[in-house]
Amino acid sequence: MKAVAVFPGKRQVRVIDDAPEPRLQSPTQVKVRTHEVGVCGTDKDIVQFAYGAPPLGSDYLIPGHECLGQVVEVGSAVRGLKKGDWVVPRVRRPCPHAVCPACRHGHPDFCITGDYTERGIKEAHGFASQFFVEDVAYLHRASDELRGVAVLTEPLTIAEKGLREVDRIQERLPWKMEAGRAVVLGAGPVGQLGTLALLRRGYATSVYSHSRKPNPKAEANEAAGAPYYSTQDITPQELVRRVGPADLFYEATGSASATLKALEALGDNGILVLTGVPARPEPLSMDGAALLKQLVLRNQVVLGTVNAADADFEVALEDLARFRARWPGGLERLITGRHPPEDYFEVATDKKGGAIKNIISFS
Ligand code: BGC
Repeated sequence: MKAVAVFPGKRQVRVIDDAPEPRLQSPTQVKVRTHEVGVCGTDKDIVQFAYGAPPLGSDYLIPGHECLGQVVEVGSAVRGLKKGDWVVPRVRRPCPHAVCPACRHGHPDFCITGDYTERGIKEAHGFASQFFVEDVAYLHRASDELRGVAVLTEPLTIAEKGLREVDRIQERLPWKMEAGRAVVLGAGPVGQLGTLALLRRGYATSVYSHSRKPNPKAEANEAAGAPYYSTQDITPQELVRRVGPADLFYEATGSASATLKALEALGDNGILVLTGVPARPEPLSMDGAALLKQLVLRNQVVLGTVNAADADFEVALEDLARFRARWPGGLERLITGRHPPEDYFEVATDKKGGAIKNIISFS
């Protein structure tokens, strides 16, 4: 079958036609025809050989971890899914170690051994191929109505997990925290979807990102109701004057300098949620003492969050339906290009100025 293949040894990325077509190997497995695969910053690092690893024994990795597909075959013990259903797969699979409480409790997103695998990223093939096989336990059914946008489920799950954790953490406050003020750093797909998730929860949300207005990302943010400010136009102090101190910073840039510079605008008892996974070093010179003093004197929390669990995928699918009802056309405008598998490398590395989310179409 046709698949995108990343060969780190040969430093090559190309489409291959002879990837073995997977078959059902257990009664709980499902065979899926890939419809679309989203391309993100992690994929850019993978095709540049800065991140990710092929499965043991393979000289290539099939990338692609944001996926929507259609069921073509189900094993005899599969319940709840049938041929023709649209499905979204999760990314991470548990480590094998008995001592890992996270993996043993269905939460490889909190794995403590590091021996988890991630489809399309770490030691397991992803979904950028005509077909894939997956256990029903790792598949989520998407309704037919979501077919045009369900490829956005996985990047939205990052926000769903992060915001679920924020709610738990803020139970530390002696009063019930209402949705307050949020600032999203970055206006790429993770930032855009995070913005919608925050607005949906009632946060007054602003976006603070590099590019100056007018630009399509800012337009998408503002059409949803989140004012957009460029870091080139206003300082963090000015941001506070305009929107007030933030209860929550949702970082979706992967840039250490941009994040730490903006952090001054985080308010008392605020949380900084970090979602970016920088693959390259970014040495900084900064006043570390001032940062620690700020964190302590303002009771602030820094929360790193990676990957997402079963429940986050379910909530993300529900949220996509809510977003479509509240912002008709809003999700569709985040998908700025659909491309053939042959263009995978260009699409991953060479994002044109206005592009938000690029998709690879397989059917
Ligand atoms: C994916 C996550 C994954 C992380 C680290 C992100 O791009 O969305 O599922 O855990 O990369 O590899």
